[in-house]
Amino acid sequence: MKTVVGNWKMQVGVRESVALARGTLLTLRGRSIAPDLVVCPSFVALSEVHKVLARSSVSMGAQNVFWEDHGAFTGETSARMLTELGVTYVIIGHSERRTLLGETDEMVQKKIVQALAHGLIPLVCVGETAEEHDQGLTQSHLQKQLIAAFDGVHIKHRSQLLIAYEPVWAIGSGRTPAVSEVISAHQYIRRLVSEFFSSVDSLSLSVLYGGSVDAENAYAFLREQEVDGVLVGGVSVKLNQFNDVIVAASEVLEAQSTHV
Ligand code: 13P
Repeated sequence: MKTVVGNWKMQVGVRESVALARGTLLTLRGRSIAPDLVVCPSFVALSEVHKVLARSSVSMGAQNVFWEDHGAFTGETSARMLTELGVTYVIIGHSERRTLLGETDEMVQKKIVQALAHGLIPLVCVGETAEEHDQGLTQSHLQKQLIAAFDGVHIKHRSQLLIAYEPVWAIGSGRTPAVSEVISAHQYIRRLVSEFFSSVDSLSLSVLYGGSVDAENAYAFLREQEVDGVLVGGVSVKLNQFNDVIVAASEVLEAQSTHV
């Protein structure tokens, strides 16, 4: 299977989010083969978007979660609150939160624990900066982030976890790594995570690629066996282009089904 996730970031308000959700449903209509689809609106739009998606195959993710269950934490949102709104996935450790909002590896770890405790599927984002990439430090950076993120975390089944490889320098820049670089990063992530969780066999762990995914390049990433899906930012709020990414994923799935 392939998974396409739209991270709407802070790009659209409630009304536009509802329209995007409706439009996304339309793109799936009549498609017998389609990827697993997840959209991640901002907190304020979750409730309204859920009404649109409630009886569909499209899942909803949140863009963040707090690590405590409840209490005096002004401005924060708990995993339990998110599940009440129909959320099933949550993005954790996005580089924008790490760099702009001071989110540390320890916070990421606590959020993963809390999400899992409430049955949310964490979509954990990792990725190197431009300097680390240029210095050949991609793997050591991924290792540092993943070891810190999963310290003390228990996963019983692979479907409880998604990982997104999002090189920081590829996000919103229009630049992407070569497909071969993405493949080797994904292989490395799989190996490391499967060492952590004996219950998760390395080949069945879902690793998505994110960073300047668009209608033109989506197929080249998605056709690779190592790429279980894409995490799409800017293009996910442009309905026509997001539709083309979904079509690319569907074409890959169709091609694979005829080769079985
Ligand atoms: P862009 O697709 O805009 O590069 O954003 C990627 C991203 O950050 C998704 O989480």
